[in-house]
Amino acid sequence: MVSVTPAEFAPATVVVTGGAGFIGGTLVRWLLANHPDVRVVTYDALTYAGNLDSLAPVFARHGVHGDGRHYFVKGDICDAGAFLSAIDGTGRETGAGRPVPRADAVIHLAAETHVDRSIMGPAAFITTNVVGTQVVLECVRRTLERAPRPFRMLHVGTDEVYGDLESTDAPWTEEAPLKPSSPYAASKGSADLLVGAWHRTFGTPVLLTRCGNNYGPYQFPEKLIPLVITRALAGLSIPVYGDGLQVRDWIHAEDHARALWAVLTRGTLGRTYHVSAGEQRTNHDVITGILRQVGQPESLMTRVTDRLGHDRRYALDHTRLTSELGWRAEHSWAQGIAETVRWYRTNPEWWGRVLSEAYRAADALYLTA
Ligand SMILES: NC(=O)c1ccc[n+]([C@@H]2O[C@H](COP(=O)([O-])OP(=O)(O)OC[C@H]3O[C@@H](n4cnc5c(N)ncnc54)[C@H](O)[C@@H]3O)[C@@H](O)[C@H]2O)c1
Repeated sequence: MVSVTPAEFAPATVVVTGGAGFIGGTLVRWLLANHPDVRVVTYDALTYAGNLDSLAPVFARHGVHGDGRHYFVKGDICDAGAFLSAIDGTGRETGAGRPVPRADAVIHLAAETHVDRSIMGPAAFITTNVVGTQVVLECVRRTLERAPRPFRMLHVGTDEVYGDLESTDAPWTEEAPLKPSSPYAASKGSADLLVGAWHRTFGTPVLLTRCGNNYGPYQFPEKLIPLVITRALAGLSIPVYGDGLQVRDWIHAEDHARALWAVLTRGTLGRTYHVSAGEQRTNHDVITGILRQVGQPESLMTRVTDRLGHDRRYALDHTRLTSELGWRAEHSWAQGIAETVRWYRTNPEWWGRVLSEAYRAADALYLTA
């Protein structure tokens, strides 16, 4: 049953933290292309995972020399002064120096995101994902104290906070208990709890989403799908954790971006929404499907020691998002993955630069030939 849709929230200026990353960049490109009345401020520290190349068309079309609807501010979410000025109308764009308009909404994606890195060095995950989220919440609280206005903050979370499921378990609903396995998942779960506490204690106008594994163009090639595509295109071995039978809930990043906008503008404050396309697949199936498309043999797959504490299966129930907000995935898995493989095939300069500079500088995990 479709419930009554709450009155639509229509922000004029949206700050996207982590907008130079994979999902943030997809959201920034999608928002500017599909919502001509919206201005977007990308706030990003440009860590190894942030890449302004992914926003090149945005700078050209919507930056200071385009229609002027996009602003970029280089900043750390742990820096309260810098973030507050990016949302309260006192900040300036990095480089161009334009005054940044006061924000009506924050979509918070900035995070340390790679599980393997969180196992090798958890500290950065606690700093950015936990402390950084607390700083973002406090800045939102402070700007609203100084200048009360209609405002929403959407915190972008992950299904990994729930731990893992047995093969026969039903998908998680939004009420499932948090039982994170990895330092990454624990840091994201901690951030989610802070978001809930700020809503309850201070009345901060927040919403929360939790999504499964994303894929699509511009994803940093340390994550499974771009790792497999780029290595398969180069004829290199494909590392497979353990038996490869771990199940993930896959979604195209553009479908995720559309869901984030639906939740921000039409969701109920204080509520959590699962974002899932219902495409649950084993890593083995994902990898063999890509090898087939690229025309490489399965013999490239090389079994490596399983990740410590590796979760077996994730699956999300998305009934709330589909029934309350009418969201549907637009990319089928078959079409989405085929397009993604094509994108990596035709954009080697994007990932070639990432692999040669950023990745090497950041201590590659698997990408030595
Ligand atoms: N990728 C997925 O499959 C997935 C699934 C569910 C949820 N999420 C969540 O979505 C969000 C985005 O994920 P992604 O895959 O696009 O990540 P990503 O690693 O591609 O990008 C993260 C971005 O955050 C920026 N950043 C990191 N630390 C920062 C800091 N201290 N201050 C400001 N900016 C900083 C980086 O420069 C980068 O641009 C994250 O919160 C992640 O937990 C991701």
